[in-house]
Amino acid sequence: MKNLSILGSTGSIGRNALKIVEQFPERFTIKALAAKKNIALLARQIGYFTPELAVVYNEENAAELKKLMPAGTGIEIMYGMEGYNAAATISGVEMVVAAMVGAAGLMPTLSAIDAGKDIALANKETLVMAGEIVVKKALENGVSILPIDSEHSAIFQCIASNRMEDLDRIFLTGSGGPFLHKGVEEFAEIRPKDALKHPTWQMGRKISIDSATMMNKGLEVLEAKSLFGVSHDKIEVLIQPQSVIHSMVSFKDGSVMAQLSIPDMKGAIAYAMSYPERLPLDQKLPDFAGIGALTFQKPDLEKFPCLALAYKACETGETMPAVVNAANEAVVNAFLNRRVSFTRIHEIISETMGCHRVVKNPTLSDIIEADQWARKIAEKMI
Ligand SMILES: NC(=O)c1ccc[n+]([C@@H]2O[C@H](COP(=O)([O-])OP(=O)(O)OC[C@H]3O[C@@H](n4cnc5c(N)ncnc54)[C@H](OP(=O)(O)O)[C@@H]3O)[C@@H](O)[C@H]2O)c1
Repeated sequence: MKNLSILGSTGSIGRNALKIVEQFPERFTIKALAAKKNIALLARQIGYFTPELAVVYNEENAAELKKLMPAGTGIEIMYGMEGYNAAATISGVEMVVAAMVGAAGLMPTLSAIDAGKDIALANKETLVMAGEIVVKKALENGVSILPIDSEHSAIFQCIASNRMEDLDRIFLTGSGGPFLHKGVEEFAEIRPKDALKHPTWQMGRKISIDSATMMNKGLEVLEAKSLFGVSHDKIEVLIQPQSVIHSMVSFKDGSVMAQLSIPDMKGAIAYAMSYPERLPLDQKLPDFAGIGALTFQKPDLEKFPCLALAYKACETGETMPAVVNAANEAVVNAFLNRRVSFTRIHEIISETMGCHRVVKNPTLSDIIEADQWARKIAEKMI
């Protein structure tokens, strides 16, 4: 029996993680659930999974949640960063599922690592912003970071039976998003509802826009660099439109290993939650004959400049990845609220990067300062 705390339980990853808990009640229990403000869903999750602690964004959300709790429920309800840190460090929990979206995930994930909890990591922004600090802290505390991102789970699985020193390169695959075949001259007309329609994956709003701009692949390159300790020039992005190959790793003898499955996050989530065991998930296998062909192409960096910007941030390192991440969060949010056009997304990120004075060997507070600075600058441009 593994005790879990799920941060971001009402999101796409959080809901899928809870489906796995529901499917394997003899394997997992829930001690804490945290969300932002989807109070109705959180209340239903509490009713079913009976955690000891629930956390929401602010006092008002907490009051709303309390009202929905039946009399006599012994649950503790907290809010804000104090609450998220409490959910991340609650005693008796062995693993924290970090499934919040955005930079908000960084501090609770670090608190969980400090408290010696293993991390099932979906919140890629944590590693993008402060990869070196997070990985070092995990090593010092004997904590495992098990990737939930399907590409990183695939890479992890390909590396598992091999020696890191034999690795040659990583092929980080991606579907190419909803605009792979759209002419770039039509990009200015793209509306949020078009960009939210991903061809192969069901995901939250922010990551769906990141997939449409291909910033998601860029953030994944940054994530892979920290997680696997591989230089960015050894990480190649490849478009694999069928989303069946989730990534590949080549070795110095010319062998290539790939991990394949249907595009459903439950596989990667369950593997992180139960590693090294594989749970009998009842997942369908890919219909290989039906698919017919698995195809590959190089990404078009002129059509998708966000990917080039992320590579640039990867090369620069230091505080630049945090700046790209923060500017991206601000401008994606503005795009979703129809305050900027699709084509302004990369321009604003690029202009913010251009104004940034990189801090060398950044501490955590330098990174947080760079994040706050980039949000302000991007917001001004928006
Ligand atoms: N979805 C996927 O297939 C997928 C795949 C790979 C990686 N990921 C990564 O997993 C993370 C979650 O993605 P998602 O698609 O599950 O996102 P999502 O559906 O938007 O869910 C986000 C979750 O985080 C909570 N949240 C949002 N802002 C918060 C804040 N400021 N403080 C605390 N909690 C907050 C939300 O609560 P409310 O619902 O109450 O607002 C929700 O529970 C992201 O980092 C994403 O890049 C996702």
